[in-house]
Amino acid sequence: MPDVPTLDHIGIAVRSIEACRSFYETVLGAEYEGEELVDSQEVRVAFFRAHHVRLELLEPTSADSPVHRFLERRGEGLHHVAFSVADIEGRIAALRESGIRMVDASPRTGSHGMRIAFIHPSSAHGVLTELCERCGGPPEDSADRTSPGAGVGEA
Ligand code: CO
Repeated sequence: MPDVPTLDHIGIAVRSIEACRSFYETVLGAEYEGEELVDSQEVRVAFFRAHHVRLELLEPTSADSPVHRFLERRGEGLHHVAFSVADIEGRIAALRESGIRMVDASPRTGSHGMRIAFIHPSSAHGVLTELCERCGGPPEDSADRTSPGAGVGEA
């Protein structure tokens, strides 16, 4: 059995981050952490933290963005669930070997410089599932476990 993964973030497709910000920040009370352009997916991403779980709002920056196509088909809403793993290449290889359909056969660069790969929803019971690996260190939560206080307030 593989190691138990850590829930890293939940991706939500939106037409406008600007239009959503007050809902997440003011209505829900999540903590706004900033924004970033992710070229590999042609999206602008805004991060909101709800304790140990991060919400990743994805706004397409072009009509070619997969998120733009998602919005056209399904409208705004839940886009993906992301789990942080160690050794993402090893995970991808093991998944492919067991017949799991990957969107990405090898990792690409996602938000926060993480290395990411998506499992196709057809192999994940309808949920686009992201694996992500932080560069230069273990997943955030494993740092939390080994060293109390470490990772608190970390972006
Ligand atoms: Co993501």
